[in-house]
Amino acid sequence: MSSCDSDATLVLDLQDVQETLLTPLCARADQWGCPDAIIEDETAKELVQQLPYDFDKIRRYPNTLTGCAIRAAIMDGWIREFITANPEGSIGLLGVGLDTAFERNRRFGDVNWFEFDFEDVMALRDKCFAGHPKRHPISGDIFNTGWIDQVKAKGDAPWLFQAAGVLMYLSPEKVRELFHVLGTHFPGATFLFDGCSDFAKANSHRWEATVRTTSARYHWSIDDPRMLASKFPGIHVTDVEYMMEHHRRKWRLDTRFWSTVLPKLRRSYHINRAHFSDSAVC
Ligand SMILES: C[S@@+](CC[C@H](N)C(=O)[O-])C[C@H]1O[C@@H](n2cnc3c(N)ncnc32)[C@H](O)[C@@H]1O
Repeated sequence: MSSCDSDATLVLDLQDVQETLLTPLCARADQWGCPDAIIEDETAKELVQQLPYDFDKIRRYPNTLTGCAIRAAIMDGWIREFITANPEGSIGLLGVGLDTAFERNRRFGDVNWFEFDFEDVMALRDKCFAGHPKRHPISGDIFNTGWIDQVKAKGDAPWLFQAAGVLMYLSPEKVRELFHVLGTHFPGATFLFDGCSDFAKANSHRWEATVRTTSARYHWSIDDPRMLASKFPGIHVTDVEYMMEHHRRKWRLDTRFWSTVLPKLRRSYHINRAHFSDSAVC
């Protein structure tokens, strides 16, 4: 259950990239109660009911919602694998938005969770989620790296970082900087991230809910995430899942057809698991 205080009025004043968090929230919420749900997230459902926002404008882009739900389900699987294998480890959710990964996955182990986002988003989270000794909010731009010492003081290696629906909004230089920061300060860490192809980025203004409904824009893309190692020595992408190859019946009929005949479309969004080498310097 969401810990939102039912007497408190939730005010939403999110701008720019912060507003994009409402799309994956809506995606997970709308799966609740579906007989063939991609993911189960009752807390998201409750939040969508309580937040004063026109979620119907997002629902005009059902493929984006399907993709976000698939992303969360695949990343949850990797998070659970990590927690089971590393019960003493730590998880950092970069650009956490109103994600409920903690609620969905904490029963699999007692790891520390660090949740990062801009101040306005973290203030909203504060009203929406219960505090917990294993849950640590980190407020501010992830590129203000004062957080590194802060999280290392509370959390133990091995580390898993997740950036779900974040990297595409960053410039290529910032993506490189993020890989560098994680690879340098958290050698051996697992990194879960998603991205899109150059084709999807070029067309994001046509069909991507977050780009259509907010002022945020896509800036980073990569066709083949396995090629990252050639650009960022020290990172090894071990798993690549193409969104459109999952839950085929959930995609719009025309998308199903065109993504069958056009591999470029079928492979336009990818969800990835990578590992930084033990002595990585990107
Ligand atoms: C599309 S939302 C994804 C939210 C969440 N990961 C999920 O899947 O529900 C992108 C989030 O990244 C956050 N974000 C983007 N750039 C950031 C930065 N430089 N520092 C902190 N947060 C950032 C935004 O504020 C937003 O909450």
